[in-house]
Amino acid sequence: MQETIERLRSQAEADIQSVQDRTELEEYRVTYLARKGRIAALFDQLKSVAPDQRPAFGKTLNELRSRVQSLLDERAARFAAGPVVRESIDPTLPGRGLFVGSSHPLIQTLEEIKGIFVGMGFSLADGPELEDDYHNFGALNFPPDHPARDMQDTFFVGKDALLRTHTSPVQIRVMENHPPPVRAIMPGKVYRNEAVNARSYCMFHQVEGLCVDRGVTFSDLKGTLISFIKQFYGSSLKYRFRPTFFPFTEPSADIYITCFICGGKGCRLCKQSGWLEILGCGMVHPNVFRSVGYDPERFTGYAFGMGIERIAILRYGIDDIRLFFENDVRFLEQF
Ligand code: DAH
Repeated sequence: MQETIERLRSQAEADIQSVQDRTELEEYRVTYLARKGRIAALFDQLKSVAPDQRPAFGKTLNELRSRVQSLLDERAARFAAGPVVRESIDPTLPGRGLFVGSSHPLIQTLEEIKGIFVGMGFSLADGPELEDDYHNFGALNFPPDHPARDMQDTFFVGKDALLRTHTSPVQIRVMENHPPPVRAIMPGKVYRNEAVNARSYCMFHQVEGLCVDRGVTFSDLKGTLISFIKQFYGSSLKYRFRPTFFPFTEPSADIYITCFICGGKGCRLCKQSGWLEILGCGMVHPNVFRSVGYDPERFTGYAFGMGIERIAILRYGIDDIRLFFENDVRFLEQF
């Protein structure tokens, strides 16, 4: 009982603060002081209190009633004194907290990748997301009938306009605009006409890399990319290079690292292989140099490309790529 009375007192004291005009004041009076009001209801409950405690509770209730009455009178006097000026600031309210944002997990991953390559002397470049067939495919030595040009993978926007399917066309644009030597990374969005589900999305991010000079060899490629892997994933991690095919590089390789979930034993993440593919790379194909006017007899180079979502997914154990793009703060604030 005592507790109920106390609670009602605090509430009455709080409620009076928000009474702004006579109508609200009358509502307040009815709520608390009327014959069927909340204080009267407590008086009714006195019957169920043990007889020897009744006088004490009766006294407290009477005090509550006078307190509420005086709160009401005080407020009423204010209204009588003149027009009510609605209070725009209530200094008694607790302050609102300021929430500090954080960068998106993809941006954090990209910043880390950039930091490592900039530290090794690479500069940054970018290019348009709306590309033409020549830069996205032709100049990169895709034969005219290559399946990647198929309508299913590429978003065609108009006659000879498409959304780039990878960041490799930026290599072409950089070389078209700069004589060698070139050493740059090129991050950006890429688009593929794929069904959206937990594993694939119609847009994602890549970082492209390109290094061209006299006498650049596959050893340079290995040294640079192994250094990247050690800085990014830790120096004790095992990695391997496996031959593969890209039209724009020869020879080409995919780099794998030991699956950091199972340590190489085989699990669902690495599809029981013990290895995770993290990037594609290779020595720039002479035809690519020819299309940008570099002399393949004088210059050699390596290139590489990696998907940022894939790296972040593996790193943070995220099981649905769509989470990156839904802007749900409950997901984002975990990074
Ligand atoms: N463009 C490739 C892709 O989207 C990735 C890639 C592989 C880029 C090898 C490169 C490279 O520059 O050398 O799958």
